[in-house]
Amino acid sequence: MVKIAPSILSADFGKLGLEVRHLTNAGADWIHVDVMDGHFVNNLTFGPVVVSGIRPYTNLPLDVHLMMTNPGRFIQPFAEAGADYITVHLEIEEDISTVISQIRKEGKKVGLSLRPSTKVSDLLPYLPDIDLVLMMSVEPGFGGQAFQPQAIEKIAALKEWIGQKPVLISVDGGINPVTAPACVLAGADVLVAGSFILKRKPYSLGIQALKECIRGVK
Ligand code: DX5
Ligand code: ZN
Repeated sequence: MVKIAPSILSADFGKLGLEVRHLTNAGADWIHVDVMDGHFVNNLTFGPVVVSGIRPYTNLPLDVHLMMTNPGRFIQPFAEAGADYITVHLEIEEDISTVISQIRKEGKKVGLSLRPSTKVSDLLPYLPDIDLVLMMSVEPGFGGQAFQPQAIEKIAALKEWIGQKPVLISVDGGINPVTAPACVLAGADVLVAGSFILKRKPYSLGIQALKECIRGVK
């Protein structure tokens, strides 16, 4: 079953806990949390205290996407705050293997993410050590951007490389009922969607529309 992971980047930050509860009740499978450091991307969002603040509002996995140049010293705080998946970018300034070990040491699932311009082959050395690849289909930093279609080929290539390994492919950016089926057909297991889900109410409308459009594709 393909999972739908609403991104709370498009939520009302004035009532984040309630937004997480609404998304949970609306049928979300995971909650995607976009952490931005104002350096890796030109935007600033939330830190571990906010993750611990929303944690009591859902039993769903918290899928924490760290858009940070130097995530290393924040792995333990995000883990203790209640993250389930911790994803860092391949383009960071730190040693990837060290950061992967830090996440493992905390007992959390490990994700690696690629910007649209980063080659899938750069990821291959790490595939045996990770649980998830977060394929960016927009330039990270902001919600509401148009899906970049080259992500489809990258997902398909990655799927081949993954083969039978237990690594999930997640796609992030510009997901809607037009782009979602192509992603799933190419091999995506998780669809991250911010604006499509959160810009219409109730949230079950967007979540159901995404589930509906991929029915039968996988
Ligand atoms: C972008 C974030 C995405 C974003 C997706 O940097 O990683 O998770 O919120 O938003 P939409 O679905 O609006 O493209
Ligand atoms: Zn994200």
